[in-house]
Amino acid sequence: MSVIAVVPAAGRGERLGAQVPKALVEVAGEPLLVHAVHGLLAAGCVDHVVVAAPAAEVGVVVAAVRRFESQVSVVVGGAERGDSVRLALRAGLRTLADVDVVLVHDAARAFTPVEVIRSVVDTVRAGSAAVVPVLPVSDTVKQVDATGLVIATPDRAGLRIVQTPQGFDAALLRRAYGIAPEDDESSPPSSVSIQATDDAGLVEQLGVPVQTVPGHSHAFKVTTPFDLAVADALLTGQAG
Ligand code: CTP
Ligand code: MG
Repeated sequence: MSVIAVVPAAGRGERLGAQVPKALVEVAGEPLLVHAVHGLLAAGCVDHVVVAAPAAEVGVVVAAVRRFESQVSVVVGGAERGDSVRLALRAGLRTLADVDVVLVHDAARAFTPVEVIRSVVDTVRAGSAAVVPVLPVSDTVKQVDATGLVIATPDRAGLRIVQTPQGFDAALLRRAYGIAPEDDESSPPSSVSIQATDDAGLVEQLGVPVQTVPGHSHAFKVTTPFDLAVADALLTGQAG
């Protein structure tokens, strides 16, 4: 049985505001995407990685991951993150016949420690069909209305920040994304609309329990120029 990782990397990175799509922005001389793929393979428990690339940058992405040879394949991503995940998931399930675990990992969480990746896979293998790495919330969180007026202050002790990789039983994620078991090259993409903001959210909509495991501060998502500065500091040993 094997583990595939799906890496959505097809976003534009509007909040980062770089000249290139976010996944191709370099930290310590390598694109974020390459850091993310390297981490997944370095964990030693992922057999194949499928990257969803921006349509205009497929050639650049293929060249960037060439060093990983047949362990990594590249597909064209979609308009929304969920579309990119579904396209890469379809490709991954066709690449290997015996996939039992699927990880979904944002290219933008490029510095996720291997221990987090292994812990997610181990927890799926131990019987949890859906697993997400999480961190406690350190700030107080307010719920507000459209005018900015505070409606409520949820107890932060019961809140968690969710990271990736999120891990799933392959058949469950296939169902969550509306990919038929007999799906093949000739079948059209599913028209199931993807409303959740993360992959576990889709599974929750199916009524399936989602297990949390400890995440890590280094698994932060590079979203803004500040995050990029943090990433640079992390790799040059000035932050930890
Ligand atoms: N993503 C994707 N396909 C999309 C949109 C996003 O594969 N159509 C990926 C991004 O490349 C990223 C991950 O989903 O690795 C998380 O999304 P986010 O951090 O929001 O990245 P962007 O959408 O690129 O950034 P922004 O929202 O600032 O434009
Ligand atoms: Mg986005």
